Amino acid sequence: MNKAKRNVVIAGNWKMNMTPAQTTEFITALAPMVAGMDGCKIVLCVPYVDIAAAVAAANGTNIEIGAENVHMEAKGAYTGEISGEMLASCGVKYVIVGHSERRQYFGETDVTVNGRLKAGLANGLKVILCVGETLTEREQGITFETVSKQTKIALSGVSAEELANVIIAYEPVWAIGTGKTATSAQAEEVCKAIRGVIAELYSAEAAEGVTIQYGGSMNAGNAAELLSMENIDGGLIGGASLKTADFTTIVKAAQ
Ligand code: 13P
Repeated sequence: MNKAKRNVVIAGNWKMNMTPAQTTEFITALAPMVAGMDGCKIVLCVPYVDIAAAVAAANGTNIEIGAENVHMEAKGAYTGEISGEMLASCGVKYVIVGHSERRQYFGETDVTVNGRLKAGLANGLKVILCVGETLTEREQGITFETVSKQTKIALSGVSAEELANVIIAYEPVWAIGTGKTATSAQAEEVCKAIRGVIAELYSAEAAEGVTIQYGGSMNAGNAAELLSMENIDGGLIGGASLKTADFTTIVKAAQ
């Protein structure tokens, strides 16, 4: 299998932005702009409180809705958390796990990310697993070791069959929200290495089939070049996913 046969996924990560009313307005405006652009999957991962509005506004369009995290347990005394069953029952199709902001500010580890990833899969969600090195790790020359370890632990206990519902997002921490994008060569090099990790863990066939996104200051100006790389099958977009015109330009670049 080559790049042309893999699923390309352009996903927005809204982070802590947008009210339900703003969500309705945004998706209502975006839907006609991306109508017919079926060369990639179009996903918006939104805050929990915006999910109902997002699912309603995206109904009948080519936009699918995701969440930004999921708890590892099915139910119980976990104040402030949301289960996979709750998400699936609201019409959510995707979920992000392991975002560097969760690791950095909320104490998430490779082990909690593994639990959350498995909970997403168990509830029929497609899981976007984020991995990526910090600036210090890059400067120390341990980028590959870092993403390899994150990928291996996150996928422990995940079968080859389940892997079909996993998307990996390579997001170098130093490129997130900084306007400092990885060069297409830097991004390609690491995405290729991640594909190698999948080959090692599963099979060459699984590695060829897995969708690997790049994320980190991807925008309307640099998306086409990043998406042209052999091992980059989409993008996970923060800031530029909050602007309909910019997000549409990125979706168009993925056609
Ligand atoms: P920015 O596109 O704002 O850099 O954010 C990237 C990101 O963290 C997506 O998950």
